[in-house]
Amino acid sequence: MNILITGGAGYIGSNIYLSLFNNGYQPIIVDNFSNSDTRRIEELETLTKQHVKYFECDIRDIDAMEEILKSNDIVAVIDAAGYKVTSESVASPLKYYKNNTNGVIDLLIAMQQANVKKIVFSSSASVYGDAKILPVNEESETIPVSPYGTTKLQSEQVIKDLVIADPEWSAISLRYFNPIGMDKSGMLDDYSNNMTNNVYDSIREVLDGKRDHLDIFGNDYDTVDGTPVRDYIHITDLADGHISALNRVIEAKDSFEIFNLGCGNGVTVLELKKIFEDHTKKEIPSVFKGRRAGDAPVSYADITKAEKILGWKPIRTLAGEEMSIE
Ligand SMILES: NC(=O)c1ccc[n+]([C@@H]2O[C@H](COP(=O)([O-])OP(=O)(O)OC[C@H]3O[C@@H](n4cnc5c(N)ncnc54)[C@H](O)[C@@H]3O)[C@@H](O)[C@H]2O)c1
Repeated sequence: MNILITGGAGYIGSNIYLSLFNNGYQPIIVDNFSNSDTRRIEELETLTKQHVKYFECDIRDIDAMEEILKSNDIVAVIDAAGYKVTSESVASPLKYYKNNTNGVIDLLIAMQQANVKKIVFSSSASVYGDAKILPVNEESETIPVSPYGTTKLQSEQVIKDLVIADPEWSAISLRYFNPIGMDKSGMLDDYSNNMTNNVYDSIREVLDGKRDHLDIFGNDYDTVDGTPVRDYIHITDLADGHISALNRVIEAKDSFEIFNLGCGNGVTVLELKKIFEDHTKKEIPSVFKGRRAGDAPVSYADITKAEKILGWKPIRTLAGEEMSIE
């Protein structure tokens, strides 16, 4: 069964590719390589020992996307194409609205024209913003605190309205918390980490000697040690969550559902640092910086809905071997 993964050369998209491949699907990639390159395609070919079909295309190119969807017998789309840097979205909101919100609209138009009406959308915990009641579940209030979070909420709304207007559509929005780690081979990492300042990759770089310290953005939050709380989920668990979502969306009609994908545990940045120091028996020097624009103080998920309905459960832990950082 042919499944199109937009943004399939990116960190999450490429890990989804591997999960789909391992579960008997035939994934096909669309990517404009704005935040990735064909090295990731080669890595996927090494891992799967098979040719990887991909198209260099922007999801906002409606005609080209319609043609790709039609000529490849695509059954459903996993949309993981988008920009993701919260602080950048605060500085350059138009860049984010143009690519993320408009990107989803244009992709849906192409899908509608190609009569492919099933989508799994990569949303984000950032839709919840500065949540007052934790953990957040799918019914929690959504008040994003960054343009990035707003683009995800807008995209969900557009998808939802489309399902209401045309019952042939079915859609699932997966709200990812903080994906970290790599697949077993260690190849499919987040190679855009310099820009994102992703804490896990920064820690890796400190341990590898590529950075001399870890920047911690904010130590005056109302948390146990003042640093922000996040819900870190292993990338392979996150990618595997797409299998049951995909099966469900393919079977469904006239349905729009939202699921949190996280671990359900809140961990501060200092706690995360300590876990990796214990794990590697190495010190990770760190420097406190000011709060970063658009960051929520505390964010962790209630994952009961995904466990019950998708039958999915994260199995990898922060202290576990799969999180190996060296
Ligand atoms: N990484 C996270 O922490 C995180 C958390 C929550 C949600 N998300 C969402 O998941 C998705 C994937 O994130 P990621 O971490 O893999 O990011 P990434 O930057 O590694 O991958 C995104 C991919 O999409 C491609 N892309 C961007 N705009 C495109 C466009 N208009 N047309 C075609 N391709 C385009 C990029 O080249 C890149 O390969 C994004 O939508 C992101 O917002 C990520």
